Amino acid sequence: MEPADLDNTILKCQGLTKNFGGVLAINNLDLEVQKGKITAIIGPNGSGKTTFFNLVMHLYDATSGQVVFGTENTNLLELPTHSINRVGLARTFQTLRLFLNLTVLENVLIGMSSQLNSGFGAALIKPKWAREEDKLAEEKALEILSLFGSRLISMCNEPASSLSYANRRRMEIARCVASQPKLILLDEPVAGMNPTETREVIKDIQKIHEAGHTILLIEHDMTLVEGVAEHVFAFDHGSKIAEGQFKEVSNHPAVVEAYLGKQALKQ
Ligand SMILES: Nc1ncnc2c1ncn2[C@@H]1O[C@H](COP(=O)(O)OP(=O)(O)OP(=O)(O)O)[C@@H](O)[C@H]1O
Ligand SMILES: [Mg+2]
Repeated sequence: MEPADLDNTILKCQGLTKNFGGVLAINNLDLEVQKGKITAIIGPNGSGKTTFFNLVMHLYDATSGQVVFGTENTNLLELPTHSINRVGLARTFQTLRLFLNLTVLENVLIGMSSQLNSGFGAALIKPKWAREEDKLAEEKALEILSLFGSRLISMCNEPASSLSYANRRRMEIARCVASQPKLILLDEPVAGMNPTETREVIKDIQKIHEAGHTILLIEHDMTLVEGVAEHVFAFDHGSKIAEGQFKEVSNHPAVVEAYLGKQALKQ
């Protein structure tokens, strides 16, 4: 495998394949994600988008191929799953995974805990350095919550269960940002949101990007993709069928066919 372009490429996969007992969820996939950009993956249901994230995070073992990450060309498929976050990746899930009985602030602090030396927790006796680390972590968590305007910070001491659905999704993104990752993976960040909420989350994502984060997101909502993505990959049947800017990808015949079926091209 060729080494990734150290200057620009943050994630590179080659020949990546995942076979679920005969279902080729990812089929010989080659792609490169550029550092500093917002990149989107689109594709019809079942085209392998979430499976791709699960392979990158090493939640699944790949059938074959490689995924390398960062300037050190770390082979993610050789890392234990629990180390993926430490090397600089964080992701949200298509369906929410939050600690509903913890406060909004605590949920974000949990995202941060892999970066702390002492680990965040309610130990009865902590050395001074660990208490100072907790204090700094709390300040950082509040700063991250403030990326979402007043929506999360005004609720920071409330249980996550008291948040609206849209704010729960925002909080999941905040928890991702908290681990200070080099690459953030968002799986359908506006799923289930109305158009107004979607427009607001577009702004939230842009703010996170402006704060210096590289983002790779999966999304069905084309308003969001068009609004934020500098580069787009289209998947179908586990393969990349097009890539480029939103306009060219969304008009690409293979993409139109994948979404609407062959009939759409005949009309
Ligand atoms: N754990 C699994 N076991 C078996 N098959 C799976 C598993 N996960 C995904 N698949 C199959 O792999 C294919 C790709 O699924 P995946 O969830 O990656 O699609 P997706 O593009 O994320 O779809 P959606 O847009 O609906 O979220 C589908 O055929 C799916 O049924
Ligand atoms: Mg999915």
